[in-house]
Amino acid sequence: MLQIQSLTMDLKKAITKLKKEKNAVILAHYYQYPEIQDVADYVGDSLGLSQRAAETDADIIVFAGVHFMAETAKILNPEKKVVLPDLKAGCSLADSCPPDEFEKFIKMHPGHTVITYVNCSAEIKALTDIVCTSSNALKIVNSIPKDQPIIFAPDKNLGKYINNKTGRKMVLWDGSCVVHEAFSLEKLLQLYRKHPNALIIAHPESEAHILKTATYIGSTAGMIDFVKQNPKETFIVATEAGILHQMKKQVPEAELIPAPTEEDNTCACSECAYMKVNTLQKLHDCLLNESPEVNVATAIREKALVPIERMLNLSKGL
Ligand code: 13P
Ligand code: SF4
Repeated sequence: MLQIQSLTMDLKKAITKLKKEKNAVILAHYYQYPEIQDVADYVGDSLGLSQRAAETDADIIVFAGVHFMAETAKILNPEKKVVLPDLKAGCSLADSCPPDEFEKFIKMHPGHTVITYVNCSAEIKALTDIVCTSSNALKIVNSIPKDQPIIFAPDKNLGKYINNKTGRKMVLWDGSCVVHEAFSLEKLLQLYRKHPNALIIAHPESEAHILKTATYIGSTAGMIDFVKQNPKETFIVATEAGILHQMKKQVPEAELIPAPTEEDNTCACSECAYMKVNTLQKLHDCLLNESPEVNVATAIREKALVPIERMLNLSKGL
């Protein structure tokens, strides 16, 4: 145990030193391991991370998150080096939308505005009119005239949630996140019976039956803000368990209970296997070796930049 602690300390020191020497910035998502979050320059949700990526003056961006996030940073910064601790850090939601099939889907719905959730590949973004994240999805959809038909991809759960909230009938791509679809309603209700005063908070990638039970629905950053506004409460948290680290750090007095998944019999936690392939050691190594790099072909990059910039322009002040 002591040995692990001292290895972690050594790695953190080495990372901080390398970061200065190389003028690098570490951007980390809330689902990363605690020790990665603690060494990052900025920890945030997808919108915050792309806003930071857009404004950084670092030479190297170390993206402690998943591939589509690093790709977005590269699209915004073609002249900078963007590295990801492990190229296997993918996303089930991004994988659920292959570009050739999506192109056919768009052709089947002529005249539709294409809005895609940021959890998709650069190729999908290149086929998109406006990108959104869970922080700004409602704002982005509401920016489109009511009578204009919309295709929303790839997350059907977020799409259904927006349709519900706005009264729209967006055409939805049939994609989803394995982590957020793993929550069990039955076990959640059992847990709630044991904690009847708890507030259920959920990420909108969760299924409708889970969202129905929630007092608050929002992005990872939104969920943390909600806990901050209600510091004395007990929360059942329906999103990836990595978020609990920042919640505990920022609101130590709140009681936090991870929402249970179908598979959990011993521990009530849900982890994204993709986010968790990144380790502190791999973060150190990718900064040291400036590899593996994330690159995007110029033709795709130029097309994908347009809907990302539209999103950033519509998200000023968020
Ligand atoms: P946020 O933008 O809310 O952080 O969500 C990212 C994500 O991948 C959720 O699964
Ligand atoms: Fe993708 Fe789901 Fe992991 Fe988020 S939690 S990165 S949507 S697989």
